[in-house]
Amino acid sequence: MTETQDLRRQMHKEHQELRILQEDLVTAFEAFCEDPLPHHGERFREALEHFSASLERHFDFEEAGGYMNFVVDRRPHHTAEVEKLRREHDLLRTGIERLREELSHDLVGSEDLMREFKKDFVELIRLFGRHEQAERELTMDVYWLEGGYAS
Ligand SMILES: [Fe+2]
Repeated sequence: MTETQDLRRQMHKEHQELRILQEDLVTAFEAFCEDPLPHHGERFREALEHFSASLERHFDFEEAGGYMNFVVDRRPHHTAEVEKLRREHDLLRTGIERLREELSHDLVGSEDLMREFKKDFVELIRLFGRHEQAERELTMDVYWLEGGYAS
């Protein structure tokens, strides 16, 4: 197996794992929205930390050793797409940080804060979904249509 196959497989595997954690996070969010009991809040917080830790490891992999540098070096016509995806990593990091901050307040005691929290969560999930889809499409272009990352 070549280095670029390893890279693609690792990326695919991590995306699969993240999808599972994302589903878990959405499930915890739904339970908390339906019935904002303290233990549902706690369960959501745990799911968020789990998701966030895996996402951070995954971003490190993509930014440092993963596909980004390969694509920019060897398929430079995709550079703008890669840079957009890199910026989205930072937006996702900021989105998670915002949710953490919101969770430190008494959401149940304030309709406004709760509304804001829900809006930010939906935005985060939407951005994450689009981001992963864009990465998947880039990987398919580079790997399957252009013969991989190697020149
Ligand atoms: Fe990714």
